[in-house]
Amino acid sequence: MKKVLLLAVLIALFIDSNAQRRATRRIALIPQPVSIVENNKAGNFILPSTINIIVPNNEEVKKIASLFAAQITPPTGYKTTIKAGNSPLPKSILFLLTTDKTIADEGYKLKVTSAGITLTARKPAGIFYGVQTLLQLLPSGITSTTELDYDEWDIPAVTIEDQPRFGWRGLMLDVSRHFFTVAQVKDYIDQMVKYKFNLLHLGLTNDQGWRIQIKSLPKLTEVGAWRVERTGTFGNLSKPQPGEPATYGGFYTHEDIKELVKYAADRFVNILPEIDVPGHSLAAIASYPELSCTPGEYYVSPGDRFMVWPGGGQHFYGLLDNTICPANEKAYEFLDKVFTEVAQLFPFGYIHMGGDETARNFWEKSEQIKALMKKENLKDLDEVQSYFVKRVEKIINSKGKKMIGWDEILDGGLAPNAAVMSWRGMKGGIEAAKQGHEVVMSPTDFAYIDYMQGDAAIEPPVYSTLRLKKAYQFEPLPEGVDAKLIKGGQANLWTEQVYNTRHMQYMTWPRAFAIAEVLWSSKEKRNWEYFSKRVENHFKRLDMAGVKYAPSIYDPIITATKKDTASVVVKLETEIEGLDIHYSFDNSFPDNFYPVYKEPLTVPRDAATMKLITYRNNEPIGRMMVLTIAELRKRAGIK
Ligand code: ACM
Repeated sequence: MKKVLLLAVLIALFIDSNAQRRATRRIALIPQPVSIVENNKAGNFILPSTINIIVPNNEEVKKIASLFAAQITPPTGYKTTIKAGNSPLPKSILFLLTTDKTIADEGYKLKVTSAGITLTARKPAGIFYGVQTLLQLLPSGITSTTELDYDEWDIPAVTIEDQPRFGWRGLMLDVSRHFFTVAQVKDYIDQMVKYKFNLLHLGLTNDQGWRIQIKSLPKLTEVGAWRVERTGTFGNLSKPQPGEPATYGGFYTHEDIKELVKYAADRFVNILPEIDVPGHSLAAIASYPELSCTPGEYYVSPGDRFMVWPGGGQHFYGLLDNTICPANEKAYEFLDKVFTEVAQLFPFGYIHMGGDETARNFWEKSEQIKALMKKENLKDLDEVQSYFVKRVEKIINSKGKKMIGWDEILDGGLAPNAAVMSWRGMKGGIEAAKQGHEVVMSPTDFAYIDYMQGDAAIEPPVYSTLRLKKAYQFEPLPEGVDAKLIKGGQANLWTEQVYNTRHMQYMTWPRAFAIAEVLWSSKEKRNWEYFSKRVENHFKRLDMAGVKYAPSIYDPIITATKKDTASVVVKLETEIEGLDIHYSFDNSFPDNFYPVYKEPLTVPRDAATMKLITYRNNEPIGRMMVLTIAELRKRAGIK
């Protein structure tokens, strides 16, 4: 009898937890669709334990159905069958291709009723994005890679119509500063497509490593792909020691690239390759020193200080010449070989040639450069760079590709067909669009996801900050420019400080949620409060998927100011609503029995530290933050 009772209690608890799970679940799509109509009365669609996916006679859609099945099988433990056809079976999921011109290229219509699901699109890409939405309508456990014992997998009855605002929805991953394997890049692609990104920009070359095999230039990967191994803070790492072996690095072979390109294409992602020249080229120069205007010995940088950024409006300069020499014909022969192979490997219509942050202090002194200026009638170093960029464009165009570059390519005159990726704010993009050129917006102020996402007291250190809320305010389409020329935008993940994939994930999420919504959803739909609630729902999905993310939205925003001459006043805020900040100045760790922040605090005269933690509903949610008062005084401008 006792056993029966215990069983009854356990069953009741189990049913209750499932009911609770349903009750607390709400529709939380990122990015928001154009329109969503909930049909609460119609009842949910419950996944049957054998799921019939019915597909048209189209290879791409069949592949999408296989990917969908591969995602829903592990967590549910259900069987899936993919059948060709164009009419539903009871409780089936029907994918339909239509000629309906009202559906955009990447758009779709999704109708869920208790009887079945119909996903309609004009192109396979639309089916793919509809599937991503469908996955987000399922409970968060659907992202798990192991089987869960949910009693049912339900999808709310909805009708969704959707299409993206921009066609270029990108993430940039720097694989030079740290190398990521093919498997790791594939994993990143898997994560990004869940949020309807369709472009992966790979930063394949930089001072810290050359990451793509160029068969006609073997030293690029024999020498340029390897450096001495260092761990610590980029820019302060020690230089290679005499005789020290270069053991850190790696590169993608042609076969690797083909595999990545295909993997991405199967998920409707284009890969944009970047070969960054003439600056950021130390790895190439270490391989082929004759590419430089400055004879010498070169090494692949492990993250040592070979450039100086003086600040205060002064221009940066190199302690080493890390530039390819625009006055050297060999440079153009080299680039012709590089872009020949790059163009053959990547089917995407654009090749990125970098063009950013070229230190010219060695050019100033170079006799070769002076001779080039005279010969070509170039009046300054901007024009020297522009001469170089225009020649690079000719090479890239000759391979059947369009050239895109960072906004420095505007300096000294833009190459005739170039597209511009605007990173130093939006102004370069606006200028390029005014000149009639295509633009991708990727400004540091909104889209640099290598920056810290919260206070420096808790985040891994980087020289600047970009909070989620700010990323969500990104508006890629400035007023007064031709909207057709603004192709879209992207977030950039430079990896100087990103040593592994866990941190790559941490830096990407949740800010890439914000960028995904900015690029897909209409401007009118933007709503920070609603977005931040959906972000929290997606944290659960990332938890289930085993993907790391930054919990920085739960940590306080700290502003320290000077009061009178010597005391510090601390103002605390939170990025999202509903958090209580508890604090101490007595060196002990605060919890929810400690005072709650209500108004700006004057730091007690002899305090040594301020400690902060946020709670929600009496549960800790933020991380313990510890700031020395010396640090607060510095921030307040007290000597
Ligand atoms: C850049 O961040 N240097 C494009």
